[in-house]
Amino acid sequence: MKVLAIETSCDETAAAVVEDGYRVLSSVVSSQTEIHADFGGVVPEIASRAHLDLIAPVVGEALSRAATDPGELSAVAATIGPGLIGSLLVGVSAAKAYAWSWGVPFVGVNHMEGHLHAAFLEDAALSLPMVVLLVSGGHTMLILMQDRTSGEYVLLGQTIDDAAGEAFDKVARFLGLGYPGGPAIERLARQGSPDAIAFPRGLAGKGYDFSFSGLKTSVVRYVRAHPSADLADVAASFQEAVVDVLATKTRQAAAEMGAKAICIGGGVAANTALRERVQLICQEDGRVGFIPSRAMCTDNAAMIGATAWYRLRTDGPTPLDAPVDPNLKLRLVRRP
Ligand code: KG4
Ligand code: ZN
Repeated sequence: MKVLAIETSCDETAAAVVEDGYRVLSSVVSSQTEIHADFGGVVPEIASRAHLDLIAPVVGEALSRAATDPGELSAVAATIGPGLIGSLLVGVSAAKAYAWSWGVPFVGVNHMEGHLHAAFLEDAALSLPMVVLLVSGGHTMLILMQDRTSGEYVLLGQTIDDAAGEAFDKVARFLGLGYPGGPAIERLARQGSPDAIAFPRGLAGKGYDFSFSGLKTSVVRYVRAHPSADLADVAASFQEAVVDVLATKTRQAAAEMGAKAICIGGGVAANTALRERVQLICQEDGRVGFIPSRAMCTDNAAMIGATAWYRLRTDGPTPLDAPVDPNLKLRLVRRP
């Protein structure tokens, strides 16, 4: 069963063809990062217009790279939320139109659920239950995933203020490093010492919620008080504070939940320091550590196609009049 999937929740226009929920026949991602860089962040109106220009060519490319004729498709899926409303509308409207004209079901997929299923596209045998650290520009969540079919997840903790990626972006902007901030901080941090400055670890030892706004304020205060500080040391110490708190809480959650594996996802999971730290704690604790490729951590449509297969089997098609939901939440169940 082949699914065409579309992802346009933020600033990537992406389409993929995924077979049986795990075989990626094609995955095309057209990034708008350069268009938004001049503005220091994603401009929602510009993002929607760029999606409009790119959606048909990106879908065409995904079908052609997968050597798939629309007649072979069993469903068309799209991210229905959370995300920017205008951006979501472009992908969802296109997906509904394709589904209607080709006479196949439409499946609306939760973007965050897509990130949770992404890892299985690279290792279908991943063991469950698994603790997943989802860290992006808009979200920071610790999730317990017990199965792939129910569509229900346990939220162990989340940020009470800024998302981890947002903290990277804000600190990078303050340091004059440009957008997107994560990769810029990571580059500068390579020349600095992670132990140079002891920045605070938000909510350390207090359960699985996260807080990054105090850390951001500490960085600003430190640089203002030390105008000649080595910015590479500031970047490395800031990154260390984020990685330390993310990895420590993930490790504790995995131990308490008896998780067989730990997985990371979302844009911040592209960070090398975080990837190495999570791998290390998994080795030390004898858990499977799954660190997906960077392309699978950041936004893509293959993860939406994989999730759609499970959603269609369990929940059936999504009605063509279903709205997009910029604040869509995961379906949550209580902690075991
Ligand atoms: O998941 P994503 O691509 O888009 C959202 O759904 O938000 O994540 C984007 C976020 C941005 O905040 C960006 O600064 C951060 O991921 N990011 C990184 C790195 N690459 C991207 N943060 C730290 N280190 C990186 N290498
Ligand atoms: Zn994302």
